[in-house]
Amino acid sequence: MMRLGLGERRRISCTVNGVARSGFAEGRTLLSDFLRHELNLYGTHVGCEHGVCGACTVILDSRLARSCGTLAMQADGAEITTIEGLGDSDREPALREAFSRHGALQCGFCTAGVLLSVKHFLQHNPKPSDGEIRDMLSGHLCRCTGYEGMVRAIAEVAEGQP
Ligand code: FES
Ligand code: FES
Repeated sequence: MMRLGLGERRRISCTVNGVARSGFAEGRTLLSDFLRHELNLYGTHVGCEHGVCGACTVILDSRLARSCGTLAMQADGAEITTIEGLGDSDREPALREAFSRHGALQCGFCTAGVLLSVKHFLQHNPKPSDGEIRDMLSGHLCRCTGYEGMVRAIAEVAEGQP
């Protein structure tokens, strides 16, 4: 394993939202900080910084990851999806519209992480029960919505899926 001295930085190369990106990180640099401050992807929010709130969630090599609990070094060579990568494909427009209509977001601080979890969740469970949706949302702290709107929005989008 490569050892870095204090303050020493190493190039990290990864594919973010389908685009090859690279930047520099110290051994202790968190993936959330790397995405925000090295790659200027500020859509990844940072709340608790200890893996609880879910605001910093990204998709890392097809798995959900708390980017505040992941070192940038661990993402070297990886494929990452951030909120900026949720474009107009698949169910993303329907999700955005349903979140808006059901009041599933207010300040929006938690929303980037929630939407990435929903994307991953529906890929693996296209027809979830309300209980499964609530269970998935338990990984995200939202101080605004009370969650009911999120459950309704996700269920509605899932319902409309082929
Ligand atoms: S900021 Fe990463 S889980 Fe809260
Ligand atoms: S919408 Fe404000 S924290 Fe969730």
